Amino acid sequence: MTVAVYPGSFDPVTLGHMDIIERTARMMDHVVVGVLQNSSKTPLFSVEERVEMLKKGTSFLDNVEIRAFNGLLVDFVHDCGANVIVRGLRAITDFEYELQMAHTNRVMAPDIDTIFLTTNLNYSYVSSTIVKEIASFDGNLEAFLHPDIADMVKRKARKGIDRK
Ligand code: PNS
Repeated sequence: MTVAVYPGSFDPVTLGHMDIIERTARMMDHVVVGVLQNSSKTPLFSVEERVEMLKKGTSFLDNVEIRAFNGLLVDFVHDCGANVIVRGLRAITDFEYELQMAHTNRVMAPDIDTIFLTTNLNYSYVSSTIVKEIASFDGNLEAFLHPDIADMVKRKARKGIDRK
């Protein structure tokens, strides 16, 4: 059985992430989407909220499971009984960081391989960071996010603006 882990911050999950999850689910027997909890970044959404968003968004995929994780990714991958990490590559600018992570993870855990999926061209420019910026200016998010997620992001962004 091939088990893959698709790790990320997913703050919030975009249509680009969803596309990678769906394609990975078609290739693998089981996919664990790992939501990083202890990020150095300060997330807009709590890990519980991000897990919930992903659970709703992937409920139609029988072989996809959503789990939060802390600490090293390779430890989480072992804990999931997986030996493949999946990452999306949007553009050449992603490559350097992704290559560094893949090499580092492989040195720490030679039994784990990283595979890269090129992001669907429609979403190759989408990033959670840019989406949050658009939301903070009350922009239209429909091209980047599922409508339910867009509503959640807008509500959060609105709260942030109201607090200022
Ligand atoms: O969505 P992101 O923020 O690009 O995902 C980054 C992620 C979660 C894959 C990466 O930060 C990670 O694996 N963090 C866990 C800590 C770790 O294992 N670090 C060493 C790998 S270089």
